[in-house]
Amino acid sequence: MLSLSKHRQKTLSHFDRLSVTINHMPAQLLNGKVFAEKILLQVKAKTATMENNPGLAAILVGDNEASKLYLKLKEMACLEAGINFNSYLLDSSSSDDKIIEVINFLNDDPETNGIIVQLPLPEKFNTDKIISVIKPEKDIDGFQPNSPYTAPTALGIIELLKETKVNLKDKNVIILSNSEEFALPLKKLLPDCKVQYINPKSKIQDLKSDILIVAIGNPHFIKPDMIKNGSILIDVGISKVNGKTVGDIDPSCDQVASWRSPVPSGVGPMTVAMLLNNLLSSKI
Ligand code: GUN
Repeated sequence: MLSLSKHRQKTLSHFDRLSVTINHMPAQLLNGKVFAEKILLQVKAKTATMENNPGLAAILVGDNEASKLYLKLKEMACLEAGINFNSYLLDSSSSDDKIIEVINFLNDDPETNGIIVQLPLPEKFNTDKIISVIKPEKDIDGFQPNSPYTAPTALGIIELLKETKVNLKDKNVIILSNSEEFALPLKKLLPDCKVQYINPKSKIQDLKSDILIVAIGNPHFIKPDMIKNGSILIDVGISKVNGKTVGDIDPSCDQVASWRSPVPSGVGPMTVAMLLNNLLSSKI
């Protein structure tokens, strides 16, 4: 008897040590760039079978550096995937009516299958009014309530979650974001999860959850003591700090989480890939 219990003790302490080692394994990174590349190759294969290349029109107003960069990335992805890309650049002295005139032209243009207005628009513009003019079947950003498309960022996040191969059923998900509109499509795409939306302006509650999705634009706001052990972290924030692009999640969280999407090379490239995937979907 004595020797058996001794043996048990030995085994237990062995497992204890094992579990500590596992908990301290740094999080695996979800490399959105690599997954996005795979999706772009599928989009390219589809466009190669089409008689006419599909067309994406992008409207950029003003000279927001981040918006210009996003648009450049979308243009490069279109080039790679065999999609015609046309940009319409307006300066910030333009008007709501001028942008609406461009959208109406593109709505009627048979060579334009998708229209995007790069956001944010300079403050004086009425974003909701402008977006509402886009024909729903060309609203590949899925911004309008009656657009047949789902927001590419939400789709990209789901693809990243799938890459973890973790069973998502009954998982607790917290979405910390500046706008509840961002959370709505994600809630729809995660029907088997318990999803909670938290606005950062509210008194921040407990963020410890199986999956934490953060989109607040506050550099490295999320620290290791705020997250659940072994959680999956999805970083949607993009900020510039000393010329470096960083997300909302401090990389030191890797000591606690099991997976993290980095910034750059996480959600960003997935959003672009899913935008082009929307353009190619059967709704055009
Ligand atoms: N600005 C930041 N993200 C997006 C996006 O997904 N679409 C558009 N049009 N503008 C953005």
